[in-house]
Amino acid sequence: MTIILKINERYICKKKLKVAADAIKKGQLVVFPTETVYGLGASAYNPKACKKIFEVKGRPADNPLIVHVANIKQAKKIAEFNPIARKLAKLWPAPLTLVLRKKDKKIPKIVTAGLDTIAIRIPRHRVALELIKASRPIAAPSANISGTPSGTTLRHIIDDFFGKVSVIIDSGIARYGLESTIVDLSRGKAILLRPGSLPAEKISKIVELEIPPEAKALKKAKKAIAPGMKYRHYSPSVPVIVVENEKEKNIKRIAEEYKQSKLRVALIASKNYAKLRLFKKFKTERHFAKHLFAWLRFFDKKSDVIIVEAVKEHGLGLAIMNRLRKAATKII
Ligand code: TXA
Ligand code: MG
Repeated sequence: MTIILKINERYICKKKLKVAADAIKKGQLVVFPTETVYGLGASAYNPKACKKIFEVKGRPADNPLIVHVANIKQAKKIAEFNPIARKLAKLWPAPLTLVLRKKDKKIPKIVTAGLDTIAIRIPRHRVALELIKASRPIAAPSANISGTPSGTTLRHIIDDFFGKVSVIIDSGIARYGLESTIVDLSRGKAILLRPGSLPAEKISKIVELEIPPEAKALKKAKKAIAPGMKYRHYSPSVPVIVVENEKEKNIKRIAEEYKQSKLRVALIASKNYAKLRLFKKFKTERHFAKHLFAWLRFFDKKSDVIIVEAVKEHGLGLAIMNRLRKAATKII
């Protein structure tokens, strides 16, 4: 049985929060909100509970989880903080995940997929923070069936996990809509593993940040820089065509071609180039990032093909393009 608890971030109902925290403590699964996307959480110290995450999500065992903590003290108990980590940790709570050398032997192997490093973050969401405080660190991947767009609304969570988890906390639509930025600090320098909701420029202001081509998902990397990066991702079941070049011309042409073969075409773009019924307009990158996964999931149900206009790769655009390239069946 799944209980759905509506918890408002501005007025946190302690009774409901306790129900969720007790579930975590008992080794059950709880879907909880963060500022980026919803997380599928279990106690980071409970190997059986963490195993359930992999089962329910259909996640390969070699893809480690992020451990969510409520404060620096918990973080320092779990991982080794070098000078660069101490500088970047000042940004927390934030949509930023740091990969550090693992210190806490009590964190089970299943969480880190046997690696000697660990991904860790303090989320900027009051419900998440209160939940962690009440139940200790929580291991959680994004709340979605492996390979599909991350869940950002209650609807998505119900579609994927109703009946499979003990508790779903609903705190409304996720504020950022794209996952955290992941930076590896375990090798003595800062390397961007996954662009995310914290723009890379904010990190580069503090430390020198290496951005490998894999972080842009320019080509399907043969050797993954983070274990999760080698899998197809964020993908609806219908084809996704991302248009990077000669946008107006190509979008119009592709839409026409599909319409002629009587297929339902959906478009996500800065303007309605092709006069389509299934159309979502993004106004800013922030707006695009917040709704991208929701739009992909929505159109997955309604259309036969989704065309998406590319954006420039700075600020949030870097994360948007990373997700789009991974979701794409074709890039033009
Ligand atoms: O915003 C987010 O980061 C969300 C919310 C729930 O916090 N979480 C999230 O988790 O996106 P997930 O599991 O979907 O993505 C985590 C990524 C995976 O690609 C995984 O391979 C990588 O982090 N990762 C985890 N531990 C790692 C490690 N020790 N070294 C390198 N990569 C790691
Ligand atoms: Mg994920």
